[in-house]
Amino acid sequence: MVQVFRNVYILALLLAIPGAAFAQDGSVQEKGITVFVEKRCYTCHTVKAEAAQIEAAKAAFAKSKGVELKESDSDKEPKGGDLSNIGAEKDTAWLTTFLKDPKDYFLDTPECKKLAKQKDRKKFKGSDAELNDLTAWLVTLKYGDMQEPGFENCLKEE
Ligand code: HEC
Repeated sequence: MVQVFRNVYILALLLAIPGAAFAQDGSVQEKGITVFVEKRCYTCHTVKAEAAQIEAAKAAFAKSKGVELKESDSDKEPKGGDLSNIGAEKDTAWLTTFLKDPKDYFLDTPECKKLAKQKDRKKFKGSDAELNDLTAWLVTLKYGDMQEPGFENCLKEE
């Protein structure tokens, strides 16, 4: 009798595992936003078109770490602009190279150089898998331009 229960238990486990793995796997959007939040991209960038999902991911991340997100995290003035249309402007190859080392992409004006320096400290430090998840999501963002009026572009034209 015990043996039967054991077998049923094992069978249930086997059935549950692929389901759990699938749920964790998540969608392109979920995986991308997770990296966007964990790597703190949101401290300088908005994605207005998916703001609700990003806020939810921030809350989940803060909870999983057992920390409160400081008010300043969400109130900080984004310096990198909005990325809601980045998928219409840039492809995976460009994004991958840029994120690994953004400095050379910045204009040589004093203001932009200052931003580049700040940005340089934020070279992407995650794994290749994380960078893949991030860029796979970024290229799906084709919502049209949602940039704040008056946003000054600091990147060289390609
Ligand atoms: C310290 C602030 C800062 C952080 C953190 C930051 N960025 Fe940026 N990012 C910038 C600035 C400044 C620019 C240049 C924006 C401009 O002038 O067009 C930029 C540009 C970009 C661009 C190019 C935008 C365009 O219009 O072509 C992408 C894509 C980007 N960042 C993605 C990310 C991602 C993804 C992360 C997280 C891994 C991140 N950034 C973290 C400041 C930041």
